[in-house]
Amino acid sequence: MTTLLAIETSCDETSAAVLRQEEGSVALASCVILSQDIHRIFGGVVPELASRAHLTTLGSVVDQALAEAGTSLEELDGIAVTAGPGLVGALLVGVMYGKTLAYRLDRPLIGVHHLEGHLFAPTLEQPDVAPPFVALLVSGGHTMLLDVRGWGDYRLLGTTRDDAAGEAFDKVGTLLGLGYPGGPAIERLAAGGSPERYKFPRPMLNVVDEPGPDQFSFSFSGLKTALLRAVKASPDLERDRADLARGFQDAVLAVLTEKAAVAVESLDYPALMLGGGVACNRALQQAAQRRLRGRRVMVASNRLNTDNAAMIGAAGLFRLGRGERSGLDLEPRADLPFPGLEAGTLLLGSPR
Ligand code: KG4
Ligand code: ZN
Repeated sequence: MTTLLAIETSCDETSAAVLRQEEGSVALASCVILSQDIHRIFGGVVPELASRAHLTTLGSVVDQALAEAGTSLEELDGIAVTAGPGLVGALLVGVMYGKTLAYRLDRPLIGVHHLEGHLFAPTLEQPDVAPPFVALLVSGGHTMLLDVRGWGDYRLLGTTRDDAAGEAFDKVGTLLGLGYPGGPAIERLAAGGSPERYKFPRPMLNVVDEPGPDQFSFSFSGLKTALLRAVKASPDLERDRADLARGFQDAVLAVLTEKAAVAVESLDYPALMLGGGVACNRALQQAAQRRLRGRRVMVASNRLNTDNAAMIGAAGLFRLGRGERSGLDLEPRADLPFPGLEAGTLLLGSPR
């Protein structure tokens, strides 16, 4: 049996988890996630404050994860830590902590790519989740459509030209006076809003059937501008807020769902995986399942979709299992390249 401690400090959650692997099956023994509330005051993550908060809390978060798993430092067989991408000062805290433990305990260390962590999240709850599948990773920092041919063997189908999907939710949340993060608040409001009143543009949806560099690309900054105009034109924002939220969410989900579905159909894969914070959105999950009737839509629970150390542990176990190790010279990188990601956009034919 292998017992692994995982650490995640790439943004504004301080998280530690313990995973146990036995004969290929992985069990989550504990996962502690401490969300830094301080950023709400500022309407977004303040990097300096995030680093300091990780520094003061990481020790206790790790202690609690070990206690909840009923284990101790000495019983650990390895340490996994997010090495990027993310806020470099925030990553530095986790990486230094992980390196110190690995050195003091003389155990293997593995630096994990945050987005590969998101890819592995559903495996912790649904052990039969396995490639090939298409993954739509949508978070505050990233929007990626991936062809997951195998674990560690990825092809980039498309990404965003400007804002990430979650970033668009957050910015629109601010425009609507909803505070940070915007995603959950917009989802709640949109549920009671009219789908008919505001018809916002569906950016880059018109090219989804045209094999070419933008077939699976996304762009959300124009949509944000359209929303800003509608907010300014509204004589009564209080009255129109839910309808605006609904119009915005419908536009984002229409593009995300259709591009992901066309990718799945083009590759004729049995499944789509939704990952990252925006994948918590129930309307997105339902739209994807409706559109891909007959195929499987795989999503982790909300707790494992937003940032957490458990997913970093799952990806770490995969990498350690392949014999990979990080040295004590491991450095966090804000722009860490995705391991196993084939460069260049794939051109797919139209499925219809
Ligand atoms: O993956 P994550 O926790 O952190 C990053 O790696 O960025 O994602 C956070 C993002 C935020 O932008 C937040 O607004 C968005 O996920 N989010 C949602 C929902 N819950 C979180 N967006 C839409 N609907 C939600 N229910
Ligand atoms: Zn994330």
